[in-house]
Amino acid sequence: MWSPDRNSGTTLYMQIAEHLAQKIRCGEFPPGSGLPSERKLAGQLGVNRSTVVLAFSELRSIGLIESRSGSGTRVSLADSEETPKHTPNWSQYADDSSMVRNPPFLRKISEALQQNPELIDMASGQLSGDLAPTQEIAEIMSQNRPMSYLGYDNPQGYPPLREALVRYLNRHRGIDTTESSLLITSGSQQSLYLIIRCLLSPGDAVAIEDPSYCFSLPMFQTAGLRVFRLPLDQHGVQPEDIRQLYKKHRIKMVFLNPNYQNPTGTLLSEERRRKVLDIASELALPIIEDDPYSLTAYDGEPPAPLKALDTTGSVIYIGSFSKIAASGLRIGWMAAPRAIVERLADARQQMDFGLSVIPQQVVATFLDSPQFVPHLERLRRELQFKRDMVTAALRREFQGRAEFLEPRGGIHLWCKIGADYNENRLLEQSIRNGFVFGPGSVYGSEPGCLRLTFGRANAGDIDRGIAALREAAEKLDLF
Ligand SMILES: Cc1ncc(COP(=O)(O)O)c(C=O)c1O
Repeated sequence: MWSPDRNSGTTLYMQIAEHLAQKIRCGEFPPGSGLPSERKLAGQLGVNRSTVVLAFSELRSIGLIESRSGSGTRVSLADSEETPKHTPNWSQYADDSSMVRNPPFLRKISEALQQNPELIDMASGQLSGDLAPTQEIAEIMSQNRPMSYLGYDNPQGYPPLREALVRYLNRHRGIDTTESSLLITSGSQQSLYLIIRCLLSPGDAVAIEDPSYCFSLPMFQTAGLRVFRLPLDQHGVQPEDIRQLYKKHRIKMVFLNPNYQNPTGTLLSEERRRKVLDIASELALPIIEDDPYSLTAYDGEPPAPLKALDTTGSVIYIGSFSKIAASGLRIGWMAAPRAIVERLADARQQMDFGLSVIPQQVVATFLDSPQFVPHLERLRRELQFKRDMVTAALRREFQGRAEFLEPRGGIHLWCKIGADYNENRLLEQSIRNGFVFGPGSVYGSEPGCLRLTFGRANAGDIDRGIAALREAAEKLDLF
């Protein structure tokens, strides 16, 4: 991200004025569009607000921007060389979009992280850089033959990756499937998106766990679905709640994350897995099993996935490479009945013509390589170490005032710190203290909770991060 050069002979405000003028000329801010506020820009660029005030006044003096009280600073219409009267109302287009925006807290967190990359991050749901198999991937990339033809990929996914996944699912998850029952997607997010947009219609009712990752997904809202919640205890959802929701609302699908669930870390018990499947087959109800975390299990394998126990074809299984290797590769997959895979492959072709072949080729090679299992073993050890660090830090800093379940896998810890704390104030104070976490309302309905993604933080930062959270909580008199 650009920032002014403090060693340059040009003053900071003039550098900022020139930078903004360039953005205006390039069309990033077309005539009539709003500029970020002085305060926000100062935060982003790491300068005093007065410096941005000077830069704005420079741009105002040459007629490039104008400020009106109440409506902020805008790019001038009059002095534009274009045909300003005909500039489309871009903000209106953006505001009128039928796609619901991401929750404001998520946008706030991502802005804070962009502005200050030094923040201790226990908010982003991904692995820290040191846990990714970067060395192994670099070696594969240097050894792989360059492909002679880089055309569009098969819309169902690169065939050698699907073959490797058939072996992987059988070996590591006890799932028997075939290449034609697999669809490779851009992360599991795209699998969820395709299912929601293509297999459901506005007004349909679905059930999700409360709290859950799905809770934060605006795609349910955009699709016009009615979303009902399945409360969780330490063993996952209560299967009978599914039947009740079906009776009351005729739910058409159930979304479950049974292994080391995001955000609670819970594992659906074996007994409940069987009951969920019994109920699903009794009601002919599809279950979407979202399973990105199972191979992070610290102490032995988790129970068999619903998909492996499913004898009636009720389950669509979604997996991902994001939480066991690297989210930036954007490799996810879905194992589903052939009719569904074909339908969704057709839909995804309308979206992106298929995924890039290059990461698919890398992952196919890595899955079959002798480095894959040792990588998983290292990942589990390191995650368990971080889990131990975060739980010890919470006990030390919060002295019994933070309640949590110790996860036995995954990257998240769900913690209750007060009956109903003011999330916005705690988040802002934590950010000022150099730490960022996931406010509980993003994931569920119970007040007073927060998500700590220990898998994202560097081990060396965990103690300082939890101390910064405790200091923020004390400053706000939360206890
Ligand atoms: C339960 C769950 N499902 C799906 C995803 C999406 O991950 P990706 O698209 O990177 O596979 C996440 C990411 O945090 C998740 O926690």
